[in-house]
Amino acid sequence: MWASILSEWLSLIFRWLHVVAAVAWIGSSFYFIALDLSLRPREGLPDGVMGEAWQVHGGGFYRIMKYLVAPSELPDELTWFKWEAYTTWLSGFALMIVVYYLNADLFLVDKSILDLTPLQAGLFSLGSLALAWLLYEAACRSGLAQHELPFALGGYVFLVALTFAFTHVLSGRGAFNQIGAIIGTIMVANVFAVIIPNQKKIVAALLAGQSPDPKLGKAGKERSVHNNYLTLPVLVLMISNHYPLLFATRYNWVIVAIVLALGPVIRHFFNERHKGRPSPWWVWGIAAIGMIAIALLSAAGPRQSAVTALPAAPTFAQVEEIVTSRCSMCHASEPVWDGIVTAPKAVLLDSAEHIRRNMRLIARNAAWSGAMPPGNVTEITPEERAILAAWANGD
Ligand code: HEC
Repeated sequence: MWASILSEWLSLIFRWLHVVAAVAWIGSSFYFIALDLSLRPREGLPDGVMGEAWQVHGGGFYRIMKYLVAPSELPDELTWFKWEAYTTWLSGFALMIVVYYLNADLFLVDKSILDLTPLQAGLFSLGSLALAWLLYEAACRSGLAQHELPFALGGYVFLVALTFAFTHVLSGRGAFNQIGAIIGTIMVANVFAVIIPNQKKIVAALLAGQSPDPKLGKAGKERSVHNNYLTLPVLVLMISNHYPLLFATRYNWVIVAIVLALGPVIRHFFNERHKGRPSPWWVWGIAAIGMIAIALLSAAGPRQSAVTALPAAPTFAQVEEIVTSRCSMCHASEPVWDGIVTAPKAVLLDSAEHIRRNMRLIARNAAWSGAMPPGNVTEITPEERAILAAWANGD
């Protein structure tokens, strides 16, 4: 019992830290992109300054100038923005261990998709994380990334192919988290392995009175553009575990493909707007079409649908029998499932009254999607899901 309580609190602490660090990171990164795009050249700026911007916040006015190379003299105190990114990754990885690796049988494996042991699933997750990042890094270093559009399209196909593969190896929830973790790792590694080291080399060259290699700045910029376009999709993937209709329905990988396309398109709107160019309003038309497509796809039902049509009118006794035999070992005031000490999310499914009261939740998690039982550990059948769906649709 203590192990279970400890893991619950560790999960809260790491999640809290993860969200705060990510807010600080993404927030400062959005801020700097918008700032960069709003800088305007003016008469009388110091040498080496490409533009300035005025802002008002917290009761004072800020006048910000950007030195394209560096000022003739570097200030003693220079603020770096890196710990936001590093903390996001470290806390995210810790959270992934607590939630996904230590509960791999529930959240990473789905035996009806592939019969893996928790250890195999964990190794697959770690291995594919490292491999995907290495492939991305190799593609960037080979110079491919300089061809922006082909690289973006290739990267898109790469991520969709990975998603398709993951949804055929891991549980839907595990797969969504895996692709999110890969994108997040790529983004943090861009800061850690390229953007910050290159910036350090540039500063060192300036201090030594040499002119820095322009390639350093260019590579850093390239990576920060990638990060910019990956921000919105990674956030959807990270919160997707709260939405069974996204991760546990038949076309879950197509939904990810749409999200991966929509994120960059929406970023484009803000990038253009902050540049002072005409706002590309068409973006919202595409976003709306994408969201409608996701909603329709998510209604396609769980992965393994019943071969038979929905049973006409199931009796409540049938429903109760299914829920009692497939759900209540965990969702009871005193669960009997190993490792579960209290009813998960306080959802009780151990009496007729509780089952009736939770009809919508049962439908979303076990009839319209296959999110519950987690990893289908109690082996609910497609026919049983169909009966639950008929009950929920008819009531
Ligand atoms: C092996 C134990 C187990 C079994 C069996 C199980 N659940 Fe769950 N259930 C969980 C866990 C763990 C969570 C919390 C998931 C999380 O942390 O996101 C959960 C969460 C839920 C939730 C809350 C989702 C939300 O909104 O956050 C519902 C509803 C639910 N289960 C319904 C069911 C139904 C219906 C069944 C049977 C078809 C079922 N569960 C079988 C363990 C189980």
